[in-house]
Formats: sequence, structure tokens, C-alpha cells
Amino acid sequence: MSCVREVKIGSFLAPNNLWLAPMAGITDGPFRALCLRGGAGVVCAEMVSAHAVHYGNVRSTRMLQISDREKPVSMQIFGSDEQTIAQAARAAEQRGADIVDINAGCPVKKINKAGAGCVLMKDPVHLGRLVGAAVKAVKIPVTLKTRIALKRGTILGPELAHIAESEGAAAVMMHARAAEDMHTGAPDLDALARVCAAVKIPVFGNGGIDGADMAQKFFDAGCAGLLMGRAAVGNPYIFRDIQDGLAGKKIIPLDHKRRAEIYLALIEENVAHYGERIGVGRSKKTAGYWLRDFPGAADFRARFVRLEKLEDIKKLFAQIH
Ligand SMILES: Cc1cc2nc3c(=O)[nH]c(=O)nc-3n(C[C@H](O)[C@H](O)[C@H](O)COP(=O)(O)O)c2cc1C
Repeated sequence: MSCVREVKIGSFLAPNNLWLAPMAGITDGPFRALCLRGGAGVVCAEMVSAHAVHYGNVRSTRMLQISDREKPVSMQIFGSDEQTIAQAARAAEQRGADIVDINAGCPVKKINKAGAGCVLMKDPVHLGRLVGAAVKAVKIPVTLKTRIALKRGTILGPELAHIAESEGAAAVMMHARAAEDMHTGAPDLDALARVCAAVKIPVFGNGGIDGADMAQKFFDAGCAGLLMGRAAVGNPYIFRDIQDGLAGKKIIPLDHKRRAEIYLALIEENVAHYGERIGVGRSKKTAGYWLRDFPGAADFRARFVRLEKLEDIKKLFAQIH
């Protein structure tokens, strides 16, 4: 039985429960718009520093910009104190975010040194205060994205979800890997099931969902929805594929030529959005996801990353057969 459906996140009704996970450097405006066309119910933006928003940092403020074709969108903020979290949540709301999400799962050292990301899991009471501060600051729903544990074999997820719920969070986004595992290894579905059983608010499961079979396992664990991360990079139609797969329909996987076409269209969007230098530069970071599974793919990527002009990139892509 398919578990794909509309889902209520507080006052917000999401058209479906297969969402794009937030990924720094990847889930910007052009990619979010692409994933919405691929069937995502909601798209999560790259994390934005609450501290930087507080100081009016131009780049961070620009990251909060949303166009209508990138909606519905969940804007993610990270920070360590109540005042700046509340301020950044308000800024996200003012820019048109449908949901504001607080990051308490990022294992990147630079973020952790600033007291944000997964280190917040060590002090659930403080984390609860941050969630509460955001909830009080905005009318849109607030969600928390965190992890099942800091260390493999331990479990913190149910306690964190429970605190978030009691502070007014509308949903929990639960990455089913321990922070020490970063982004690798199998998701811990037993721990995830315990999180789902611990709270009444929707729990979205995340970590390693690459198709309908894995999606079904997450739904069987009790998840109200799913967040797809890297599987969407290189296949923005993963959302539709999962929906179709769960409904028993045959999935026709993207072949390398179609994947390259979609990638080139994204590069063009990036150039239109950021200008040629930054747009091409950003596009190259995900080349390995898009340009794969064809003879000579590694050589092709090596040639691609040396190019700087869109016109030259188009000529190169025309050689893919
Ligand atoms: C390049 C990259 C950037 C990420 N940036 C963020 C981020 O900004 N905020 C966040 O909460 N998680 C971030 N994540 C974690 C993803 O949201 C997701 O939890 C993780 O990739 C596991 O899902 P997946 O196995 O479907 O990729 C990032 C992951 C990757 C690979």
C-alpha cells in the first residue's frame, strides 16, 4: 500500500510527503525548482546562519530569497542562541518561507565550533529553548531536523523529538544515522521507529532513501513523510519515481543522455541565476552525480570541469550519445 499522501505540518498542508532534504551548496533556487517539477511536495533550502542574518551578511540574506517557482519551501536556519534563531526565523517568514526548520544535525566542524548543528543534541533542554524561541517568533510552522544519535549504537532521537514537540514544533525531520557516521552507512530503522512512536507530530525519515523499496521501509517504521537528499542529485524525478514505484507502476530510470540533458538545463538555470562564473562553478560541484554510468564518463567530467564558458559546455554536452 502506498503511503504517499498530503500531510499537515501545523497550519501548512503539503501536497505530498516526499520532500527534498536540505543540502548546503546544492538545494538553491534553481535546484529546488527542478525538484518541484520532479514531484517533490516541499523543497528544503540550504542552511542559513542565524548569526550571519543577524549581522546583515549579504550572501546569507540572499540565500533567504525565494521565488514563487521554488515553493512550497522550508527554509533552514542554524544557530546557537534564542535571540538570533528567533530573528532568523522571522526573516525567513518575511521572505515567504512556508516552513522554518532548525538544524540540529549538521556534523561539520566549523558549524559545531559555533555551538550549532549536531552539538545541540548534547543539551536537549537548550535545543528545546531554541525551538520554542522560533515557534514564538513566527506564525509559520517550525520543524526540527536532527539525528537519531551522536554515537552509533546509542539513541537520542525519541527524547529530542519529544522536546521539540513539547516546545511547539510542527514536525521532526529525523536523519536515521548517528552524527559520527556523517552521511554514510545504513539508516537505523529500529531507532527511527522508536522516534515515530514517541511523538504525535509527523516524523519525516531521512538517510539513504534511493527508491520505492527503501521508501516503503521508512513508511513501515511509522514515518509520516520522507526526505530525499543525494538520490535527488542526478535524478530530480526520484520523488515521482518513488510515488509510482509505491503504487506498483513500472519505473523507467533516466538514461545517461537524458540525465545529461537535465544537468545542462540546470547549468543554464544556474548561469541565469548567478551569472556565468559562479553559476558554472556551482554546477561543477555536483558533476559526479550527473555525469556517470556511460563509457568515458570520468574523462568527460575531467574535460567538463576545465571549461568556464556556457557555450563551450553546450558544445561538449552535444557530444554525449
Ligand atoms: C552536500 C551535502 C550538504 C548537506 N547540507 C545540509 C544542510 O544544509 N542542512 C541539513 O540539515 N542537512 C544537510 N545535509 C544532510 C542531508 O540533508 C541529509 O540528511 C543527508 O544527505 C542524508 O540523506 P541522503 O542519504 O538521502 O542523502 C547535507 C548533505 C550533503 C551530502
